[in-house]
Amino acid sequence: MPKRYLITAALPYSNNRLHVGHIAGAYLPADTYVHYLRARGRDVRFICGSDDNGVAIEISALKEQKTPQEIAGFYHDRQKADFADLGIEFDVYGGTHHPDFVERHEQLSQKFFRRIHEKGLFTKLKTRQLYDPEADRFLPDRFVRGTCHHCGSDDATGDQCESCGNMIDPLLLKNPVSVITDKPAEVRETTHWYLRLNKFEQPLQKWLESKQGQWRTNVLNFALGQIKQGLPERSMTRDISWGVPVPLDDPDAQGKVLYVWFDAPIGYISFTAEYCAKQAGDWKAYEQWWADPDTAIYHFIGEDNTVFHALTWPAMLMAEEQYQLPTAVIANNFMNLRAAGDLKKISKSSTPADAPVWVEEYIRKGLDPDALRYYLTSQAPETARTAFDPDEFITRNNAELVAAFGNFVNRSLTFAVKYFDGKVPDNAAATDADHAQVAAGAAAFDKVAACLDEFRFRAGLDEMMSFARQCNEYFSERAPWASRKEDMADCAATIATCVHSCHMLAKLCAPFMPRAAERLLAMLNRPTDDVRWEPPPAPETGTALGEPAILFQKLEEDALN
Ligand code: 2FM
Ligand code: ZN
Repeated sequence: MPKRYLITAALPYSNNRLHVGHIAGAYLPADTYVHYLRARGRDVRFICGSDDNGVAIEISALKEQKTPQEIAGFYHDRQKADFADLGIEFDVYGGTHHPDFVERHEQLSQKFFRRIHEKGLFTKLKTRQLYDPEADRFLPDRFVRGTCHHCGSDDATGDQCESCGNMIDPLLLKNPVSVITDKPAEVRETTHWYLRLNKFEQPLQKWLESKQGQWRTNVLNFALGQIKQGLPERSMTRDISWGVPVPLDDPDAQGKVLYVWFDAPIGYISFTAEYCAKQAGDWKAYEQWWADPDTAIYHFIGEDNTVFHALTWPAMLMAEEQYQLPTAVIANNFMNLRAAGDLKKISKSSTPADAPVWVEEYIRKGLDPDALRYYLTSQAPETARTAFDPDEFITRNNAELVAAFGNFVNRSLTFAVKYFDGKVPDNAAATDADHAQVAAGAAAFDKVAACLDEFRFRAGLDEMMSFARQCNEYFSERAPWASRKEDMADCAATIATCVHSCHMLAKLCAPFMPRAAERLLAMLNRPTDDVRWEPPPAPETGTALGEPAILFQKLEEDALN
C-alpha cells in the first residue's frame, strides 16, 4: 500500500465558467476518491488550480478587451467559488499565473525545461508556422481554425481536433483561418524547441503495457494507438508573450514562452511546492510527494486531455528524470446536454448563459449541490459519452434520493422522536431480520469500496443506493407502526436497527454526497467528521438523537428552468 496519495484534477483554463461536463469529467470523481481515501485514513493531498497561461487565455483577453492577467484572475476566482459550492475541497487551488503561485511556478517550469534541454532532448528547429499578416503575429494552437487533417471535421484548432481527439499539425490543417481577424493564415519561418517524443516511444509503450488490467482501457488503447502511429516531435515553445519565458540564453528564445501544455502539468508540482511552503514553511517538502516511489500519483482528467497526460507528460517526466510517473491516469468522456430530446455539446457559444448546466446557475437557483453530485455520478461518462438530461435529473432526485434514501431516514428518525422520546431504543429483542439488515450494511462497505478502488464511481454509487433501497424495504417489512401496538420490544429493535442503518448510510454516502452525510450525522447527533470507512457499531441504547429534518428536497418539474 502506498504511504501517501497525491490526487490531481486537470487545471481548468481560467477563461470560462465551469459546467457539469467539467465537473463530471474530472473534478467530481477526483473529489469522491479523495473523500473515500481520507475516510480510509490515508494520507492524501488534492491538488488543482487554474491553467492561466497560453493561447486560450490570450484569445479570451483579446475578445473581452482585457489583459490576460485580468481574465485569468477573474475566472480563477469564479471557478474556485464553483468548486467550493459543490463541496469539492482541494488542499491547494493554485494558478499558473496567479500572484501567489506564479514565481514558484515559473522557477520550477524553467528548471524543468533547462534540464531537458541540457540532456539534448529538444531539437531546435527553424520551422514554418502559420502567421496572420494583418495582426502581424504568429498563430500558434487555437489562434488558428480549420479542417482536421485526420477526420475532416471543420472545428479543429491548430493544436487538437475536438471531434477525433487527435493532435493537429497546424501546417496540415486545411483552409487555416486566423481567429483574430478571420482572414486566411499564411506560412512564415520561426524557431522553436521540439521535444524528441520519438525517443520515448519504447519506454512509454513498456510503461503503458505494464498498466494493462489496472487502467481504464480507453486511456491505454488511445495512448498505445498513438505510439503505434509514431510520436512526432512536438514544439514546446510558442511565439506569444503570455506565459513562462523560455529560459535559454539564446537570441532565438527572445520573446518566446513555454507551450502551455509544457508548463500546465508542472503546475501540479509547483502548487504542491507552494502548498508545502505555506503549510510547513518548507517548499522543498514537495519532493516527498513527487519524487518518492511510496507516493501514488493519480491524475483525473477529461477525455481531451488524455494525449497529454498519458504520453507527453510522462515523456517529459522520463526526460527530466527527477519525479515519479503517474500511478494512473483516469480519464472520463464528455457529458453532453439533452435538451428537448436533442443531444448538444455544452459550450460557451452554444449553451445559454443561464442554463442550469453552468455550476453558477445551478447554485444560484438554491438547489442542493449534493443532488447534482448524485446525478452526475449516476451518469458519469466513465466508458462513453453521456448526457445531462434536466427531466431525468428531477426524476432521479425525486424517485431515488427523496423517495428511497430520504424517506427511509425520515420515517426512521421521526418514529424514534415520536415513540422513543428521540433516543436510540433498546435492540435486545433483535431478530434474524434485524441482524441480516446490519450485515447487509456492513457488506455494502466492502461492495462500494471494491468499486471505488477501481475508480468505478457509478457502480459504487449504485451499491450505496441499493443498500438505501434495502433499508426502505426493511422498514416496510418490519412494520414498526404495527409492532408498536403488539410487541414494543420488537418495535424498539426495529427502530434501533434503523438508526444503526442511518449511521451506515451517512458513512457510505459521504464520499459521494459529503454535505448530505453531514446533515444526516447531525440528525443522529454524531460529529460531522464521523465518516471513517468502517461499519459503525450498534448505537448505544438511550443515546439522544438530533432533530430529524428533510434530507433531500423534492423538486418541482420546473426546478431547473
Ligand atoms: O483542457 C484543459 O482545460 C487544460 N487546461 C487542462 C490542463 S491539465 C494540466 F496538465 F494542467
Ligand atoms: Zn479530427
